[in-house]
Amino acid sequence: MKLLKSPLRYAGGKGNYIKNFIHLFPSLPVMGEGDGDKIKIIDIFCGGGSVALYLAQIGYKNIVMNDLDINLYNFWDILKNHSDEMINKLTLIWERVDIKSKESGQKLYNEMKENIKSEDKIDKAISYYILNRIVFAGMTELTTFSPTAWEQNYFNIDRINKLKKISDILQGIEISNCDYKEIFKVYKGNDNVVYFLDPPYDIKSNLYKNHGQFNHDEFISSLYNIDNKFILTYDCEEEKLNKLKSRYKVIDQEYNYCLNHKKNEDNTLSRRKRIEWLITNI
Ligand SMILES: C[S@@+](CC[C@H](N)C(=O)[O-])C[C@H]1O[C@@H](n2cnc3c(N)ncnc32)[C@H](O)[C@@H]1O
Repeated sequence: MKLLKSPLRYAGGKGNYIKNFIHLFPSLPVMGEGDGDKIKIIDIFCGGGSVALYLAQIGYKNIVMNDLDINLYNFWDILKNHSDEMINKLTLIWERVDIKSKESGQKLYNEMKENIKSEDKIDKAISYYILNRIVFAGMTELTTFSPTAWEQNYFNIDRINKLKKISDILQGIEISNCDYKEIFKVYKGNDNVVYFLDPPYDIKSNLYKNHGQFNHDEFISSLYNIDNKFILTYDCEEEKLNKLKSRYKVIDQEYNYCLNHKKNEDNTLSRRKRIEWLITNI
């Protein structure tokens, strides 16, 4: 079965990386065995939602997608609960733009930049989706129109139609908009919960809203004392992680960090390679 991927372009999306840690989740019931049904899996920094969507499609039942970004949360919530209206409106927009004209793309970008401030949650979600498809690197509200994304038809009718299937998958997923600390408090010590944790990268550039405010030291300390099961993927300096590495099981993976390039001696650019740490107490 071909699994559907996230409808969003998302920095640090784990769609391709999930095969490296999927075996760590509690196994799905086979002939009455396995914990997969009674365990609640919370994707606390869900972003583009690739992990939660993947788990739901392979049979996990009790999944939560959470993210602090309110407009991202609104997108998932509206896609789950008002998909028909969302898809109809998106189709009308797609029909009126000239997909071959970059000027048309730029105009749509300007329009959506205004619309995302709307009080209407459906319009807001539509703007979020369109911006995500047509700006640089999918950094929805943090960057500008990308003629390349437009030329590549990242905003297209097939993708809009696929949203219906994603909405069907979301019916089995709970969606929330909390700070990770609140969730840690609510489920403290609960043995039936597994967290999937993919926090913002510990780098200077802002890839997500709230990125600069994220306190990595505080996050690492709270994980050191946690009494819940977790799977963590973390792009962070090794020294900062030493505390966690001494306490939990670590599998390190080299991982291509796609948005950031470094200049070579001959002035060419190559992708920066960074270590994505995979750490778990399972
Ligand atoms: C590395 S991205 C997650 C990518 C995601 N795993 C995927 O596959 O697309 C980190 C996410 O954490 C969210 N975030 C930042 N601070 C947060 C906080 N304090 N609590 C919950 N989510 C937060 C950001 O909005 C961003 O979407």
